[in-house]
Amino acid sequence: MIIAPSLLAANFGRLAREVARVNASGADWLHLDIMDGHFVPNISFGPVVVKTLRPLSRLFFDVHLMCSKPAILLEPFAQAGASQINLHVELGEAVTPLLWRVNPPTSVGLVQPFLGQIDNLLIMTVNPGFGGQSFIYETLPKIQQAAAWRRDRKLTYTIAVDGGIDFKTAVECARDGADTFISGTTLFGQRNLGAAVRRLRKLVQAAKPGAADT
Ligand code: DX5
Ligand code: ZN
Repeated sequence: MIIAPSLLAANFGRLAREVARVNASGADWLHLDIMDGHFVPNISFGPVVVKTLRPLSRLFFDVHLMCSKPAILLEPFAQAGASQINLHVELGEAVTPLLWRVNPPTSVGLVQPFLGQIDNLLIMTVNPGFGGQSFIYETLPKIQQAAAWRRDRKLTYTIAVDGGIDFKTAVECARDGADTFISGTTLFGQRNLGAAVRRLRKLVQAAKPGAADT
């Protein structure tokens, strides 16, 4: 199980201290939302910020590109220190599939041809663009489908969920086969981030398919 606090919910006036908080929390990844004001109606931050934060943390930097022209941004974010870059499958076949995110209205079948080539299948559980939105329950069948494909084809990609993930929705996603939990508002909203990460990890581990039998 991978716990990934989303920096979008951090206090941008003191990012270095927020990253230190995540470092000390026992989380696995730092999720970095990159928004271009075109693919989504919001703007966040760019490679310069990622580069500035990179020396402050040993965490896996999970970069989520919500941008219309990812091709021109892959290199800058890789240079800035991204550990993994998430692209949106909605952008079409021109984009090299590194990792796919599936928006709520997008059919999960769209990623099927790429399953053998990806490290991570990221399923959006809100419409991308903003933190603090409510989880969309209709996305749960996509998680089940992604888990069934992984099992049937003996593949190893991680199944991540992003958006509206709290202590309750994370458990529902874990039950359906998700193993990577990106959470902004819920985790950053806790005074004790470490305790929140531990609590979330414990809950999703217990909800994991098969966990009750062991
Ligand atoms: C939304 C972003 C999410 C967001 C999650 O477009 O992809 O990563 O930060 O934030 P919460 O947990 O607040 O929904
Ligand atoms: Zn994200």
